[in-house]
Amino acid sequence: MTDAILTESRTTDAAAWWRQAAVYQIYPRSFADANGDGIGDIPGILSRVDYLADLGIDAVWLSPFYPSALADGGYDVADYRDVDPRLGTLTDFDAMVAALHSRGIKVVVDIVPNHTSDLHAWFQEALAAGRGSAARERYIFRDGTGPDGAEPPTDWQSTFGGGAWERVEDGQWYFHHFAVEQPDLNWANPEVRADFLTTLRFWSDRGVDGFRIDVAHMLTKDLTEPLPQTAELEAIPRDGNHPLFDRDDVHEVYAEWRRVFDSYDPPRTAVAEAWVETPERRARYASAEGLGQAFNFDLLVADFDATQFRTIIADNLAQAEATGSSTTWVLSNHDVTRHATRYGLPALNGRRVKQGTEWVQAGGPAEQLDRDGGLRRARAATLLLLGLPGSTYLYQGEELGLHEVAAIGPDQRQDPAFFRGSEFDRLGRDGCRVPLPWTAAGSSFGFGADGAHLPQPDWFAEYAVDAEAADPESTLNLYRQALRLRHELQTGEQMEWIETGRDDVLRFARPNGWQVLTNFGTAPYPFEGEAVLSSVPTSPGILPAESTVWLAPQS
Ligand code: GLC
Ligand code: CA
Repeated sequence: MTDAILTESRTTDAAAWWRQAAVYQIYPRSFADANGDGIGDIPGILSRVDYLADLGIDAVWLSPFYPSALADGGYDVADYRDVDPRLGTLTDFDAMVAALHSRGIKVVVDIVPNHTSDLHAWFQEALAAGRGSAARERYIFRDGTGPDGAEPPTDWQSTFGGGAWERVEDGQWYFHHFAVEQPDLNWANPEVRADFLTTLRFWSDRGVDGFRIDVAHMLTKDLTEPLPQTAELEAIPRDGNHPLFDRDDVHEVYAEWRRVFDSYDPPRTAVAEAWVETPERRARYASAEGLGQAFNFDLLVADFDATQFRTIIADNLAQAEATGSSTTWVLSNHDVTRHATRYGLPALNGRRVKQGTEWVQAGGPAEQLDRDGGLRRARAATLLLLGLPGSTYLYQGEELGLHEVAAIGPDQRQDPAFFRGSEFDRLGRDGCRVPLPWTAAGSSFGFGADGAHLPQPDWFAEYAVDAEAADPESTLNLYRQALRLRHELQTGEQMEWIETGRDDVLRFARPNGWQVLTNFGTAPYPFEGEAVLSSVPTSPGILPAESTVWLAPQS
């Protein structure tokens, strides 16, 4: 029976690998440091390919590894078609791709099209060329207002806090949605459009299988004068015609990209990071004529709560069916508080992400953190998600059950959101970007020879890969088992709810007979059947509080 299922899943259309993939996000500067300079690098990833293969993931997604001054953790790209020399070379990159491919792991890279770094050759040229030049037309330069144009063109605020316009030497201002070192590109400029097609081909030609598109909903803008001020801007509905967000015309860009993706065999894939208002608006990014898939971030702002999970699961599966895409489950990434920590803090109580300006925050102060409870709930939530149809995006370190690192001094922090006082969880995003612990002993817990670029706490020892590999009940071993069994479980893209008689217990079945049961409550739940995998130790027929079990098909 098992063999038959495996054969069936392996012979599905090779081009559709992404539909139910487990994708592991690597934040390269914090993954593994091969040359011991404190910064993770491409040879470091290469040295851990066995680890990734043993974990059982289908693909890796690499956050930016391009040349960058790191004003925003690499999302300020100085050259889209090269590797940061501190992280390696293009030759190292090719070797890494070859090694991953040889183990059956696909490679997804991050494309950051809304803005470049201020160190990008184009921006440097724009500064030098002066007002009215073709070089300035690649960005968004405007004259200021007030006497001598000393006031910014509008009162718009940037996502990381502070004004969204910066004045340059000759008196003009440029627009930056994010940090001042991240000038927005002008997507009405044909040269900008053409250059990104070149970049997509560049990486596709090197064997990259797919792309994650950074703030995919922001590229095109309507900056017809007079520009609205913030109050007026906020009153404009985000229904396709807003001057700055989720404009219908952005899909012309992605239709062009799709033609590039489809010129490869198998076609390259893409997933949109698009913080938009409604499921219908999100669906546009997931269409087969566009990027093909879009992130569903609903669980980043949900509590560990059966009713919230059930609604989110049902809505997203319905939406995936309507678009022909598959959904994308996410509990953690490089922008949010790790989910073990979120679930150990007071509930979010329905607080919601608002188009990337007000980001998810853990629901309370660190003193209130229940570390064991948070991890117990995180393991239950992850095991539930891995049993669902769709692809699941995992963030490096969650397979170790890592908590957010709160103890990072102000002088050690790197996130511009921290320094500019924006809403990014107040402390910024460094706490989920601390280099991984590979060994319980040794310098920087085996991350590299000589320290790590963000401070690792003592408690990392307990979560180190070598410690967890040796413990059958560790989170690492739970992920390994789940990802291995998942290849048997993920055959059809359907699921069916089974009534449990309790509001805080969810149960569903997959078409091949696999079942998943999650108890979100505190009272144990008796069930029929034999668990093949569970998020906590179980006794036969009893689903403990805050846990998930998988049941194999009855033969
Ligand atoms: C995306 C990235 C985030 C980055 C921002 C600007 O939201 O995930 O890390 O700061 O875009 O590029
Ligand atoms: Ca290094």
